[in-house]
Amino acid sequence: MHSFTFYSPTKVIFGTDAEEHLTDEIRSLGGSRVFVLYGGGSVVRSGLLQRLTQRLEAAGLAHQELGGVHPNPRLSFARSAVRQALDFGADLILAVGGGSVIDTAKAVALGAAAPERDIWEYWEGTATPSAVLPVGVVLTISAAGSETSDSAVLTNEETGIKRGLSSPLNRPRFALMNPELTYTLPPYQVACGVVDIMMHTLDRYFTPTRGNQLTDAFAEALLRTVIANGVTAFRDSHDAQAMSELMWCGSISHNGLTGLGAATDFSPHKLGHELSARFDVAHGASLSAVWGAWARYAWRSHPERFVRYAQNVWGISDTCAETAAPAAIEATEAYFRELNMPICFTELGVGVLEDAVLEDMADKATRGDTFIVGSFRPLHKADAVEVYRLANH
Ligand code: NZQ
Ligand code: ZN
Repeated sequence: MHSFTFYSPTKVIFGTDAEEHLTDEIRSLGGSRVFVLYGGGSVVRSGLLQRLTQRLEAAGLAHQELGGVHPNPRLSFARSAVRQALDFGADLILAVGGGSVIDTAKAVALGAAAPERDIWEYWEGTATPSAVLPVGVVLTISAAGSETSDSAVLTNEETGIKRGLSSPLNRPRFALMNPELTYTLPPYQVACGVVDIMMHTLDRYFTPTRGNQLTDAFAEALLRTVIANGVTAFRDSHDAQAMSELMWCGSISHNGLTGLGAATDFSPHKLGHELSARFDVAHGASLSAVWGAWARYAWRSHPERFVRYAQNVWGISDTCAETAAPAAIEATEAYFRELNMPICFTELGVGVLEDAVLEDMADKATRGDTFIVGSFRPLHKADAVEVYRLANH
């Protein structure tokens, strides 16, 4: 087991009455001017936004709303939102939505706390954030886990780079999690979320580090729970039990718990981000489209890990790596198919890509072959091209 720091300070309020705590939580953080961010309109149509602003109104809290956050959120929108939050004099940023809205809120919270800096410097790594406004979340989709994570992912549409920033300052201060708010999700978004939740766990579970009994057990239990409830949720987004399990799994899958004491990998995420940056595909779909290719390329680096995955997650009793590892990969892909999720580029809807495109995506993922992706099977640019090739059909 490696040394680790576990810092997961987000106050989670879970249940059908979660929104009732909104104004108390804002006040306890000293918030009085609330800048509310939301996406393309689902929270307007459901009436959620209106219910929340009525609560702010009734509590005498000044507020300003800004909608229009796009999935795979854009840097230009975040920059503009920073200016608007500053003009308003915001002292708390409230995200009402999913990963895209929450990540934009995190960017605004960093930008408004240090207006002299351009926020992209943090994402480029040329500056380190040192101040932030508090961020609160009302979650409407179980997927990215941003409501408890230390990460925020933005796309710089000028350069075509989609990148995450990890910082302890990115942890939201509170997350109000009412599973009923996810009942309006279309099946495709439920499926994307299930894949993403699985992948946050798998990208930690497939590690070269050994001897983490509790961490491994957490990860396997979470995967079994997501797999069992994911199909039910996909078929019926009003299934209270399944939607509740997914919501909690989503937060735990990305708050750090399922990878404590181990090196993380995150290759499928990094390779998937290039697909989202270039083709604007949904994050979850980008992951299912590359995971099988990555697994086939990588499993021989640590075959015993795949045997364990086969046994403890999929109930495959075969202990021979040569057969158990491919069986586990096929079981995972069969599950993605059950959710109608893509397992190759044509199913993702981007067609068979030219070699030059694969090269360019691999170049960006490895930052010009200066950055090694992952730890389970460290990927140089040439390896990344090979993984993309395996998915390119
Ligand atoms: O924009 P609206 O109209 O709200 O519709 C959204 C959007 O179209 C819709 N939606 C959300 N809640 C809904 C709903 N529709 C009906 N009913 C509801 N209750 O779902 C669509 C997707 O929303 P989005 O926020 O993009 O989804 P998700 O939570 O999957 O977030 C994806 C983004 O998060 C990043 C991804 O890369 C992507 O940019 N990630 C962020 C992470 C983090 N910060 O820790 C980690 C993840 O690995 C991921 O990279
Ligand atoms: Zn993800």
